[in-house]
Amino acid sequence: MHRMRFVGGVALLTVAMIGCGSTATSLAADGLIPSEPTLVEYADPSRVEGLTTATITDGDSGERRVHIVYPVLADAPGLTERLRAVVTERLDRFTATAVRPAGRDGSARPELNVDWLLPAATEQVVGVRLGVGELTQSGWRESRTTVWYDRVERRAVDSAGLLSGGPALASLAGLVRAELAGRGPGVDASAVRADARLFDSVGFNRHGDLVVEFDDYQVAAGSLGRVAVAVPAGRTEGLLSPTGLRARAAAVRAGRLPVSTPTAESIKASIKAAAAGKPPARSTRAGTVDCAAVRCVALTFDDGPGPATGELLDALAARGARATFFVTGSNAVARPDLLGRMSREGHLVANHTWSHRDLASLPPGRAAHQLTRAQEAIGQAIGQAPTLVRPPYGSAGAGVAEAARGLGLAVVGWDVDALDARDRDPRAVARRVVAGVRPGSIVLMHDVHRPAVEAVPEILRRLSAEGYAFVTVPELFGSAGTRPGQTYRSGPAAPAAPGGPAASARS
Ligand code: NI
Repeated sequence: MHRMRFVGGVALLTVAMIGCGSTATSLAADGLIPSEPTLVEYADPSRVEGLTTATITDGDSGERRVHIVYPVLADAPGLTERLRAVVTERLDRFTATAVRPAGRDGSARPELNVDWLLPAATEQVVGVRLGVGELTQSGWRESRTTVWYDRVERRAVDSAGLLSGGPALASLAGLVRAELAGRGPGVDASAVRADARLFDSVGFNRHGDLVVEFDDYQVAAGSLGRVAVAVPAGRTEGLLSPTGLRARAAAVRAGRLPVSTPTAESIKASIKAAAAGKPPARSTRAGTVDCAAVRCVALTFDDGPGPATGELLDALAARGARATFFVTGSNAVARPDLLGRMSREGHLVANHTWSHRDLASLPPGRAAHQLTRAQEAIGQAIGQAPTLVRPPYGSAGAGVAEAARGLGLAVVGWDVDALDARDRDPRAVARRVVAGVRPGSIVLMHDVHRPAVEAVPEILRRLSAEGYAFVTVPELFGSAGTRPGQTYRSGPAAPAAPGGPAASARS
């Protein structure tokens, strides 16, 4: 099946997957590219028909931060159910045990973050690898879980379902233990037991070798990061179930892609290549509306695209309204078609990081990687580099502003929060937005929340009646534009429309 054509997608994994034989390194060691057998290649999700995503978020409570995304395949309901069960169990456990970590600036909050990749996606089998990050008192702790869906048997199995049974699991545990025994200090081979919970993230590399990934701390000191073992294909004969054989066949059919880590230069080059033949996105043309003379508002939609984003674009188009979409890179690679549509229809597509972790909670290298990886994914989808970033949870320190400046990104906050995760009633969302908007406002909404999308026609109708024009964020600033590294929470105050009440933008 098709493999990722974007190198950035592979890059984080290579960074995250160090640990076999060579000096083990944590994810923070950006730039290290091992050529080693535990590297698994991933399928391009945009080629998977009927794929959308489900998002679970909680950034409002103040005490916890949660951002979970997993894929939803229209023709594999059993897979969706299984994934939902896995993330719900993790979320419940997190909610029950989360303790406020000792943040560097005292502001860190417990955080749970789940993103996903497809170790395989063919007409026979689909694999979904969930990457789970949990911010604890000792820092980020990473774990992995891979769920498989057998399209022939129409059922989802956990990774142990790739094996033919208990004796096969015991044999595999023995092989893995033997391999780990040679790893040296820090790795505890005796921790490996024939327990399906330890073997919950299993896949295959392009040679058909079976790759077992362990969670942080499972078989090694946490500082070793991901520990993984590749068992040569020849030694797993007889151990695999029919689903396991299908999964292996899918991995072997993988493409051969160069692996790299995105740099400012490589991003420019890949975006330039993606832009060839595409007309410039209209959304870059600030100043089509004079926000010094007209009441302007910038509606912004974060965390998407999601299942309701197409509907939202229809609603915006019906009113000739433009908006700004802060998308995650992870979603961008799954639905580049929707990003292309945003761009063609005059909206601005902007950076909301790769997987929506609180940037202030990450070491600087990883925070920068969250930005560059999303920059590349979005740039390849729309053919131009984003110029704005909104840090997840609105949380960014000085280091993030510096990284943003380096990538040519202005940092965008908001002055009106629709609090759309809180309401199931679109009318409540619409009321809150309409009551809060002033000329120059930047409104925070989320197109992954259906009530927010359903509130948009009402918001457009009522604010249009008040004389508002709906513009992208840069348009609020007219010819002054936005500057990389600067933070913007609302546009400059605009005079009230004739006959309207005087109002000024809050900052
Ligand atoms: Ni967000």
